[in-house]
Amino acid sequence: MKILAIESSCDDASASIVEDGVNVLSLETLHQNEKFAKFGGVVPELASRGHVGLVFKAAKEALNKANITANIIDAVAVTFAPGLIGSLLTGLSFAKGFAIARGVPLIAVHHLKGHVASNYIENPKLKPPFLCLVVSGGHTSIFDVKNYNEFKIIGKSIDDAAGEVFDKVARYLEIPYPGGYYLDELANKGNPEAFVLPIPEISEFNFSFSGIKTWSINKIKENLEKSDFERFKLDMCASLRFSVVKYLSKNLISAAKKLGRTNIAIAGGVASNSLLRHVLKSKCELNGINFFCPSPKYCTDNAAMIGIQGFYEFKSGNTAPLDINAYANKKPIPEYIRSAL
Ligand code: KG4
Ligand code: ZN
Repeated sequence: MKILAIESSCDDASASIVEDGVNVLSLETLHQNEKFAKFGGVVPELASRGHVGLVFKAAKEALNKANITANIIDAVAVTFAPGLIGSLLTGLSFAKGFAIARGVPLIAVHHLKGHVASNYIENPKLKPPFLCLVVSGGHTSIFDVKNYNEFKIIGKSIDDAAGEVFDKVARYLEIPYPGGYYLDELANKGNPEAFVLPIPEISEFNFSFSGIKTWSINKIKENLEKSDFERFKLDMCASLRFSVVKYLSKNLISAAKKLGRTNIAIAGGVASNSLLRHVLKSKCELNGINFFCPSPKYCTDNAAMIGIQGFYEFKSGNTAPLDINAYANKKPIPEYIRSAL
């Protein structure tokens, strides 16, 4: 079964052809980073306007790269929630048009379930149940993945996402956008123990990042005019990365021990953080837990993960009606859709 998958929940427009829920025949992701560099972040209206042309281009290129034509496609899968509403609607409308024109089923995929599924692409050994930390610019959640379609959140950030902290601190440090990526590189040159950041202990497996963000911003303001700012910048990157990674891995390992899970995976843009991957790999080894992570191109937003999860949704009968809407977050999603998430 060949699925054309579309992902446009934020600023990247991505399309992929996925076969039988395992083979990624092609992946084309078109970025809008350059446009947003001068703003230091995504401007929602500009992102959705950009998608109007980019989603079509990405889909055409994905078909070309897979060397197939549209009439070979058996179904179209698309991210419908959560994300920037204008961006989601653009991808969803394209997918609906494709489904109507080709007479194929439409599959609506939840973005975070897609991130979890990115782990199946290169790790055929990974099968539910497992724990997955989804950590990105908008989310920090630990999911108990009971089977391919049933997920339970067992911990999450009660305020900012870890990626939001990296991006915001990077902005104050005048590091180019997207900040998390460059901060990771600079952190390798700094001292991770230069500063002790305040890590809040809140209810079991949950996170709170807003205090860490505010503390870091205040520290930067104190040091902005000092002559050794360049040294401070490297130490700040290293200390922030060290603290965030320690916090994420502590909660994730404790959750696995408590629930008796022997497989742990990570996903989302921050999952490509080099220290997070290194620390979790060694902590898992020490605790007899198998550790899985996608390669960086499948950590950030991409349509291949939507195609993989789309296959599992289709297999369990979760096709979408053509009047399905997009949802910026989970709360207002009607029950008949929510129950299938
Ligand atoms: O999953 P993603 O592409 O989009 C969202 O759904 O948010 O994640 C983007 C986030 C951004 O905050 C970016 O700064 C962060 O992932 N990121 C990183 C790294 N690469 C990207 N954060 C830490 N270390 C990295 N190497
Ligand atoms: Zn994402």
